[in-house]
Amino acid sequence: MVGIMKRVLITGILVAGLAATSLHAATSAGTITGNAEKGKEKASQICQACHGLDGNGVPGQPIWPKLAGQHPNYIYKQLTNFKNNERYNAQMSPMAMPLSDDEMRNLAAYYSGLPQSGGVAAADQVELGEKIYRAGNPKTGVPACSGCHGPAGMGTNLAKFPRVSGQYPEYLDQTLKLFRKMERANDPNGMMRGVAARMTDEEIAAVAQYISGLRQ
Ligand code: HEC
Ligand code: HEC
Repeated sequence: MVGIMKRVLITGILVAGLAATSLHAATSAGTITGNAEKGKEKASQICQACHGLDGNGVPGQPIWPKLAGQHPNYIYKQLTNFKNNERYNAQMSPMAMPLSDDEMRNLAAYYSGLPQSGGVAAADQVELGEKIYRAGNPKTGVPACSGCHGPAGMGTNLAKFPRVSGQYPEYLDQTLKLFRKMERANDPNGMMRGVAARMTDEEIAAVAQYISGLRQ
């Protein structure tokens, strides 16, 4: 009797494990696809005001992030997170709220396909910024950013590691501080909160500058 129970339980776990694996594969294996033309139409009606129709933001508003050249899976994830209140911003959340799943896919397809404008890092921040980006801070346990975001800051679409290169330093600085304060908490397994929690203001400022000037 005990033997039968055990086998049943084990089979049950195996089946659950397999189901979880195939579900995971179905949701994470593919690149988000959508209709970029329709995405452009929507962007011109709503998103343009803050992110630009070209996805490179609006001059003088460096806390409105660039979306151009960002990975489609990351854009789609963020829109879903804003819509579900897993990430909150007073300006952005109401924009995501009314979007349908198809509209989010279309917007991801549109913005990901545009060329990003890039940036230039403040020269006096490059030395410390590069050290943090490539080697972290072994004394305080900050890991190298390049381990996840890649040597050129381009991230990985399927792993949903965002592109960070060429982004506005003000947005990067503010975002790292939001992770540190745990006010942004939509990072899987607390990956970014764990990183930012160990960083000083000085390190955050330097790495934000360095990243903004990174290019492929
Ligand atoms: C009123 C200004 C405003 C409008 C309009 C707006 N956004 Fe945003 N968006 C923001 C701000 C501000 C942020 C940064 C939020 C934060 O700091 O957490 C943001 C962040 C984002 C992000 C996350 C970027 C990243 O790198 O994590 C995406 C994706 C995004 N917006 C897409 C859109 C789309 C698509 C539209 C149109 C449907 C849109 N936004 C309309 C202000 C706006
Ligand atoms: C263990 C992997 C990992 C490491 C190491 C890591 N990151 Fe991240 N990072 C992520 C993930 C995953 C996200 C996306 C979170 C989400 O889904 O919202 C992210 C998001 C970010 C964002 C937000 C991008 C945006 O557009 O809003 C910034 C900025 C960032 N990371 C900077 C850094 C810096 C700087 C370092 C090094 C000090 C670093 N990361 C190290 C995994 C990592």
